[in-house]
Amino acid sequence: MIEIDRLTRRFGARTAVDGLTLRVAPGEVYGFLGANGAGKTTTMRMMLGILASDAGTIRVCGRLVRRGDRDGRMLVGAVGEVQHFYPEMTCQAYLKFFADLFDVPQPVQRVAEVLADVGLADRARDRAVDLSKGLQQKLGLARALLHDPPVLLLDEPVSGLDPHGIREVRELICRERDKGRLVFFSSHVLAEVAQVADRVGIMNRGRLVYENTVAGALAGHGTLEAAFVAVTGGNVRQAELVA
Ligand SMILES: Nc1ncnc2c1ncn2[C@@H]1O[C@H](COP(=O)(O)OP(=O)(O)O)[C@@H](O)[C@H]1O
Ligand SMILES: [Mg+2]
Repeated sequence: MIEIDRLTRRFGARTAVDGLTLRVAPGEVYGFLGANGAGKTTTMRMMLGILASDAGTIRVCGRLVRRGDRDGRMLVGAVGEVQHFYPEMTCQAYLKFFADLFDVPQPVQRVAEVLADVGLADRARDRAVDLSKGLQQKLGLARALLHDPPVLLLDEPVSGLDPHGIREVRELICRERDKGRLVFFSSHVLAEVAQVADRVGIMNRGRLVYENTVAGALAGHGTLEAAFVAVTGGNVRQAELVA
């Protein structure tokens, strides 16, 4: 359902994504790992059609992703690392705005549904900017679910969340997977990834240097941290400094 072939993107002299090839199937949770600057966000922006690639192809549900292709974007619900809200917008108004943008049928009812789905029904009339970071992340998830896309793309969905918020996002990911959605998410919270992902890929300097089932990675290395250090050549801290 996600097919990426030899995807490449450069920024000046730096190759942010370098010949990436990967496949993810429906109903699968894929953890996309890598130190800061490894190329995860750049990949996801290309998957969304908001950033052009220099080479290679991405297919979502068999459809070639092209930059700015609106119909293609209907297949994907995405949540970025940081949520942006207009100061005066309530949660409800924020979701209604996007429901209209995506031509969601029966928008008022659908907004109520997704608010309930993420546990924010009682915050509908509160301003989005007044929510905690964890709740803002959930509101982002509600927005991503509005048009019922087969694919969910989440960039660092648990970064900056407290343990309670992390657990809630985990439950939400599992629930959406159980509905048959494909969930592709980036993270560097490896313990969390081990709990929620079916399969992991590890990026290092733009390249996919490792891919395995979580069970296989744990059997081979004990922990995802150990797998990470083994395949990135202990490059973790150095890469973090670069970013
Ligand atoms: N718009 C941009 N302009 C220039 N360089 C960029 C841009 N976006 C990302 N990069 C660079 O591309 C590399 C990969 O970044 P990114 O995809 O954000 O990594 P990650 O999400 O894994 O932390 C980094 O070296 C980053 O500095
Ligand atoms: Mg990133």
